[in-house]
Parts: sequence; C-alpha cells; structure tokens
Amino acid sequence: MKLPKALYELEFSHGSSYGEEEKAAILEVLDANAPSCGSKVKQFEEAFAEYCGTSYGLAVTSGTTGLQLAMIAAGVGPGDEVITTPLSWISTANVAAALGAKVVFADIDPCTLNIDPARVAEKITDRTKVILPVHLYGQCCDMDALNELAQPRGIVVVEDAAHAAGAEYKGRKAGTLGDIGVFSFHQQKNMVTLGEGGMITTNSRSLYERALSYRSLCCRTYDPKGKYLPIDESLHPMGKKYWYLDFDNIGFNYRMTDIQAAAGLEQLKKLDSWNKRRIEIANIYSNRLRGIKGLRLPFVSPHVKHVFHVYCVLVEPESRLSKEDFMWELYTKKFIKPWSHYMPIHLTTAYRNLGHKHGECPVVEKLFQQYVSLPIHPRMSEETVEYVTNSIRELA
Ligand SMILES: Cc1ncc(COP(=O)(O)O)c(C=O)c1O
Repeated sequence: MKLPKALYELEFSHGSSYGEEEKAAILEVLDANAPSCGSKVKQFEEAFAEYCGTSYGLAVTSGTTGLQLAMIAAGVGPGDEVITTPLSWISTANVAAALGAKVVFADIDPCTLNIDPARVAEKITDRTKVILPVHLYGQCCDMDALNELAQPRGIVVVEDAAHAAGAEYKGRKAGTLGDIGVFSFHQQKNMVTLGEGGMITTNSRSLYERALSYRSLCCRTYDPKGKYLPIDESLHPMGKKYWYLDFDNIGFNYRMTDIQAAAGLEQLKKLDSWNKRRIEIANIYSNRLRGIKGLRLPFVSPHVKHVFHVYCVLVEPESRLSKEDFMWELYTKKFIKPWSHYMPIHLTTAYRNLGHKHGECPVVEKLFQQYVSLPIHPRMSEETVEYVTNSIRELA
C-alpha cells in the first residue's frame, strides 16, 4: 500500500481539528463583534483552570509569551540563572535569555529524555531563580525530585507544559505540578486555538497578578475621582469600568482574543478523547514496532499519563540505517514525514554565540544522533497507522 502525496499532506501536516462546535462558537463571537479579551476569554480561563485543578488560568497569545510572563512573574532578570533542559523548542530557553538571565542547561535522562533532576542538582547556585522543566512529548518530568530541589531554596518551578495538556503525574495534571504552568495551543498541539494561543495556570495569587498585569501593559484604570480599580477589573479593557489609564511598569500586550477562547472552550471538551486516541495510536505503534533491531521505543514512566504529543523512537547504532538515512528513506520512499524534536538548544547558533558549546550536555548530544518523531495525531486512520508501521518494518 502506498499513500498518495495528497493524503500524506492531509494526514501528517498538523494536529488541528475543528468541527461544527467550534464553527458555531466562533460565529456567536462574531455576532458579538469579536472583542479582544472579553467574557469568552474569562470563561476559557476558568474552564481550563478547573480542568487542570488550579485556582487561576490566564489565556495568552502563545506558549512563548506565556513562558515569558511566567519568567517575569517569578522575578527573573539580569544576573539570575534559569536551569532548563537542552531538549526543547527554543522558546523555553529564549524567554529567560531575553530577560537578561543566564540560561543553564541540565542534561536529560536517557530513558525519558526529560530533564534529569540529578543534573539539575549539580547546576544549582545562589543565583538560580527558576527551574524550568519541559514535559517533553507529553510525558511529565520527575516533578517530586525537582520540587524537592527547588522548595527549600526558594527557587520557583515553572512547568513548560506546551506538549502536555491533559498529561498527568501521580494522578495530578500537568500545570499543577510546580509553581506556575504554561501551555501552548499552537496549531500542532493536543488542543488548539486558531493557530496560536497559550495558557498559564497557577495556584499563587501573587504570580497570577504579576502575569495578569504584564499581559496587559501593566495597565491600571482609575475613575474620575482618582480611585484605582482592583487589578482584575482594571485589566479587562473591554470591561464596563474603563476610565483613565495609568501604567505601573513596562508591560506587553499578550492578550488572547474572545474568538480564540470560544474555539478553545470547545477544544477543551474534546481534549480527553483526543488524548485517548493519541495513546491508542502510540500503543499500536509500540506493539507493531516492537522487536525491530536497533529501534528503541518510547519509555513511559509508571508515574505518568503520557499524552503523546510526539511519538519518538531512537534509531540506535545497531540499526541497519543511520538516523539520517532512516528519516530520508521514510520520506522519499514511503512519503512519511518524520521529524527530529529538537536540535539541542545549546548547539544552535544563537546559543553558541552566547558561549554554549558541544560537550555541555553529552547525553542529549549523543541521543540527537538517534531521536526521530513519527507522525501522530488523533485523526490518523487505522489504515495510516498500519501504513506507517509496515513501512518502518520494510525499511528497518
Ligand atoms: C516545549 C515547548 N515550549 C514552548 C513552546 C512555545 O509555544 P508557542 O509556539 O505557542 O509559542 C513550544 C512550541 O512548540 C514547545 O514545543
């Protein structure tokens, strides 16, 4: 069986999936003149926070801007150090670097590919302000170990949960496992809000208020009598109590729009069933690919619910093909587009220019020669999943 190119584009391009529910919700917001950050955003924030189990949700324009607000809320600035994983999308590190902090990379655990708490422990100094683990591919990090390192030292733990909407660790949801969590709703994620979007979750009133303030230019409104309004009312610019404006600090506009939030509310209702389907596909992949020489399947920790934003295999040295040849043959002979998430951040030109270098994180550097992401998203048909596994068996 050979999939035509058009089918490959449809099946593998990205995970977004919208139905009649999103269409109706979007039209309703259009009829209300599609405001910026209005009542739908508030509803979405409350629904997402309730889903995760946190006191607060704060909808933002992307995972990147959410992470930046989280860094600001944690008080990160020049001279501080932020410890994170080298194996992530570059945003994770950039948000700290952009604030003038030093990004310190702690190597990964070779089984889970998540940040290794033992390596984090070695990197902690008096300047460490934040530990920023990433729940890579949808599998939560070893959060107990990381919190044990952070809490006694007053270090803030920011979860990068961009891949992990609906993921769990010891029965608790991603986004509730540190001091503040950040999700992405970019078009490839497990749930999406019209191409871009993100959400912050936290139980801390003070972290929430700081993020809320910087999301909206640190704007405060005061009435004609000079009385400043409470921050929640102040920061909904479309709200009724819009009077005069003052600005407490140098902030940003990272507000989500109501039309995105309306779609997000519908997506949230579908998230669990989509994650269930991702897990089913991952299980089929693993069952059908088991036993291929030199192909290591994803390790799933017994403590987590892995939601398989990415299904990643390791092409080990015993394999017939190198990683590059495996990817190339999948693409050119079988029309399957694999990916490699990600180039280790410290090896990118941007971070080499900041003084980072080869040898800094040997585990990820070695595994970079091996990790390959196979296509996965809830719309994949049985036929396509079978096609992918048969193709790999033929090539490997
Ligand atoms: C691990 C990780 N963190 C952060 C981000 C940034 O999210 P966004 O693309 O919504 O800015 C991404 C995006 O892919 C990501 O994969």
